Amino acid sequence: MLQARGLTKRFGGIVVAQDLDLDLAPGEVVALIGPNGAGKTTLFNMLTGFVRPDQGSISFADRRIENLPSYRRARLGLARTWQRPRLFESLSLLDNVIVAGRDYPGERLTNLVFAPGRIREREKAGHAEAMHLLERVGLAHRADSIATQLSYGQQKLVGLARALMNDGRCILLDEPMAGVEGRTVETMKKVVRDEAAAGKAVCIVEHNIGFIRDMCDRAVFMFNGRIVASGSVADLLADQRLTALYFGSKS
Ligand SMILES: Nc1ncnc2c1ncn2[C@@H]1O[C@H](COP(=O)(O)OP(=O)(O)OP(=O)(O)O)[C@@H](O)[C@H]1O
Ligand SMILES: [Mg+2]
Repeated sequence: MLQARGLTKRFGGIVVAQDLDLDLAPGEVVALIGPNGAGKTTLFNMLTGFVRPDQGSISFADRRIENLPSYRRARLGLARTWQRPRLFESLSLLDNVIVAGRDYPGERLTNLVFAPGRIREREKAGHAEAMHLLERVGLAHRADSIATQLSYGQQKLVGLARALMNDGRCILLDEPMAGVEGRTVETMKKVVRDEAAAGKAVCIVEHNIGFIRDMCDRAVFMFNGRIVASGSVADLLADQRLTALYFGSKS
């Protein structure tokens, strides 16, 4: 469903991505692991159009997308979450999710003038969809709360609901478990599992090894901007060489 080939990026002479290939298939959950600064978020940023690669190509659903702006990639069904939740702090949870919808129509002046009926219909549909997603992440009862009234873990779940708002075919999750604890852990797992079961391609950057072991079908290991290993989760986690890279670089 998604194929990246040869993605390369330098920031001011420092290579943060070197010839990266990645394949994501429907229904598959792939872990992207590696120590801090390995380039995992940069890879997601290149896939979603927030960072422009110096070289390389990206195909998604049989289209070349590397030159499309991020909003068009999102419309094609490439969704992501952010390492930090990035919610609109003064909006309710419900509105945070509604405005993530690709068909959110109220911002087009021509629609407001010429098609108010269509806007009302779409807004109703968007409202229902957002409410449904808040139910899935266990926060429907907080729909009217302001984002900052939630715990950090709950905010991450709202970030996930925002990413799911467009019913994308491929979902990139950047450290979904960081700051998530207590009851929200199982909710996060369930939603991710359900997405994969529905045939979505899922790629997860995560430092939580238990989560990776539970959730992921295979893993890719990044270090210093390169993919240095890929294979089964069990094989990668058992690889002493990778463990040394992972912990060695943190000290
Ligand atoms: N916009 C930028 N300008 C310059 N350097 C950047 C930029 N974004 C990232 N980098 C650098 O690129 C490297 C990779 O960063 P990246 O955030 O992709 O790592 P990561 O694997 O996601 O790490 P973490 O696990 O800490 O989130 C780091 O050395 C970082 O400092
Ligand atoms: Mg990161």
